[in-house]
This record gives sequence, structure tokens and C-alpha cells, in this order.
Amino acid sequence: MTRSGPGPPSTVLVTGGAGFIGSHACVELLDHGYEVIVVDDYSNSTPEVLTRVERIAGRFVGAVYELDVRDRRALSAVFDRHSVDAVLHFAALKAVGASTRLPVEYYDTNVGGTTALLRAMREHGVHRLVFSSSCSLYGDAGRGPLDERTPARPTNPYATSKWLCERVLADVCARLPEFTVLSLRYFNPVGAHPSGLLGEDPRGEPDNLMPYVAQVAAGRREVLRVFGGDYPTRDGTAVRDYLHVMDTVEAHRLALDHLGDAPGLHVYNLGSGSGSSVLDVIDAYARASGRAIPHEVVGRRPGDVAELVADAGAVAADWGWRPGRDLDDMCRDSWRFQRLNPQGYAGSARRPGPPR
Ligand code: NAD
Ligand code: WQD
Repeated sequence: MTRSGPGPPSTVLVTGGAGFIGSHACVELLDHGYEVIVVDDYSNSTPEVLTRVERIAGRFVGAVYELDVRDRRALSAVFDRHSVDAVLHFAALKAVGASTRLPVEYYDTNVGGTTALLRAMREHGVHRLVFSSSCSLYGDAGRGPLDERTPARPTNPYATSKWLCERVLADVCARLPEFTVLSLRYFNPVGAHPSGLLGEDPRGEPDNLMPYVAQVAAGRREVLRVFGGDYPTRDGTAVRDYLHVMDTVEAHRLALDHLGDAPGLHVYNLGSGSGSSVLDVIDAYARASGRAIPHEVVGRRPGDVAELVADAGAVAADWGWRPGRDLDDMCRDSWRFQRLNPQGYAGSARRPGPPR
């Protein structure tokens, strides 16, 4: 029943489609006329998100399946039922800290989930995949913009799991020439949909900077701890390449257009190419929210590096993709989501949450 035809994909399976980036991707695809099928186990999300996706897009998601991507039988049934042209694979566990405590769970979900998906795709003649990779696989590779040839030096199980997935995907593509896989190494996606209906809603204390700053601005948390003021950077705080989630998902839509270009695995950085320090983010958020962001500099967070900035020249050259939104846009949209959803998606039914 299923196929992976030569034309541009029209039916796209989105794993992890209720998550932060996946939900924005669903809107982007619905807005551009794609038929969207979602699978998600809601381990880090809620079904309410998909209701909001449909509200924004003014269209329904074609079908939604609550399942774990490692459940081969359930996943196979989805491919039996729908004529899938391509897959966006977002479903994964993503917390670096938790991965150091729970390496088995991280490898099982991230690597095992990817191989289970590849198996189902192969069995159903679907050969086009866009994979969510991460800048974290560069680890402490060094300063200056990093291009895709920079050797991977992952420093935690999460980052290693993404690197292993890329190795698996490279091998699969080398041996099964019908496959085309685009692996997108995101730097730091942040922000929210401009409607204020979709955004990042971490459970418990946020691990990541921007959701933490958002909760401090809103008065939900008292003070932001700035991890390290003694890095060899402009202001002593660590520098990252922040990327608006809307730009991130636009790149995924373009990726679907380019899945037919050449078989094999192709790896691209998704970043802006310019770095912002923790203090830059605090300043931009204070401007966007009109609120002070109380903060104190504390010791470095174990495993953090001074600077991670993308050389995103390859994706610009090959697809003409460049992010159109800046740090002020990211903070403004994050703040809108925070203001309109002070407790995130709380109030809607939630599952127990990912392993922490
Ligand atoms: P997220 O946790 O918000 O979304 C992941 C979604 O996958 C969630 O809805 C979760 O419920 C679902 N999921 C998890 N395990 C599953 C399983 N076994 N079966 C089915 N569904 C499952 O994360 P996100 O920030 O949207 O990240 C999406 C992808 O991008 C992930 O692969 C992540 O590793 C990668 N990535 C994220 C960032 C970032 O900073 N957010 C950066 C680089 C890469
Ligand atoms: C950014 C900067 C912190 C929180 C992570 C993953 C990476 C990718 C993107 C998935 C750092 C500092 C943070 C806080 C702070 N995700 N910080 N106080 O660590 O660059 O990347 O998300 O693939 O794999 O590692 O992002 O937002 O956690 O931190 O000072 O309360 O903010 O030290 O310098 P990071 P982040």
C-alpha cells in the first residue's frame, strides 16, 4: 500500500509530532498543503498540543497514533494504513543531564527508536527520512563556527546517541541505495509560534536557558543561575547559536523538497552562524518582556563548552536556507507563549513524563 515515489512527498509521517519542534513542523506542513500523520507516545508532550496545531493551521492532522516508535508492530500498522512518502523523525529523549543517569534508556529510545523506524520504513518501501540530529555531537570540538566536517566528539550519552544514529544512517544509505536521509544538526532552537499557542513547555525545572529565563521573567522562578562567568568569551559567559523554532521547521519543509536530489546520507548544520552569550540572552529577554531578569553567576555546568556556533554555509548554498529571525524575535515569541500560557500546557491531560 505504501510507496516512496519520485515526486515531492505529499504524505509525511511526523514522529514526536506533539513535541516542541515537531508540533511547529506539523503547522508548517499543514500550512503548505501536506497530509500529516503523527505518532507520539506523549512521554514529553500532551495531546492538547495537536488540537492547537489544528487550530492554528485551520486543518486537521490526517491521523494521530499514541505509540512508542520502538513498538514495531504498532508502527508497522501505521505504515500499513497510510501511504507515507517521507518521515520526519523527531521522537527522542533529549535531556543531556538525564542521559548521564539513564544511558540505557537514552540509547534504547534514540538509537533503538531509529532502527525500529528504519525497519518499518524498509518493510513498507518508504525510503525518505529527515533525521533530528544535534550540535551536541561536536562536543568540545573547539572555537569558531563549526562546519559539518568537524569531527564528532560527543561528551554525554545523549550526544553519543545522535552520533550513533548518524553512523547507522550512513551505513544504511551506503548499503541500501534506495534510501535518502537528511540529517539536520540543530544548534539551539528556541522561541515559539507567533500565535502564542505553541511553544516549549518543559516539565519541572527547565534544563535549557531560554525556558528558564522565560519563567524568571514571569515570576514563576526567582533567579536565573548563569553557569560560568569565566569562559574565554566576550563577557565571560558561554556563547551559543540560537535559532528560532519557526526557522528550524522551515528548513524541514525545504528538506522535504530536497529529498529527491541525491540518494545517500547528507548532513547539514542548522544554525544562524552568529553566537549569543548568556548575558546577551538575558538582555534581549528583558527588552522583549519589559521585565528585569534577576540572575547570579555561579560555577560552570559540568560538560558545558565555551562556544558552539554553526557554520551553516552548506545549507545556505544547497537550499538557499538562512534563518530570517533574530534573537529579539525569539525572545518576543517565547515571551508571548509564556504570558499566554503561564503554566505551559498544564491543565490539559499529561502523561507521567520522560525518565529524569
Ligand atoms: P520534545 O521532547 O519536545 O519532542 C520529542 C517528542 O517525541 C515528544 O512529544 C515526546 O513525547 C516524543 N517521544 C519521545 N520518545 C518517544 C518514543 N519512544 N516514541 C514516540 N514518541 C516519543 O523535543 P524537541 O525539542 O521537540 O526535539 C525534537 C528532536 O530534535 C529530538 O530528536 C531532539 O533530540 C532533537 N534536537 C532538539 C534540540 C533542542 O534544543 N530542542 C536540539 C537539537 C536536536
Ligand atoms: C545554553 C547556555 C548554559 C541554563 C542543549 C543541549 C544540546 C541541544 C541544545 C539537543 C549554556 C547556560 C543554561 C541555565 C545557564 N539540545 N545556562 N543557566 O547546553 O547549549 O545545548 O540544548 O540536542 O544538545 O546540550 O543549551 O539552553 O541548556 O544552555 O547559564 O539555567 O546557557 O550553561 O551555556 P546547550 P542550554
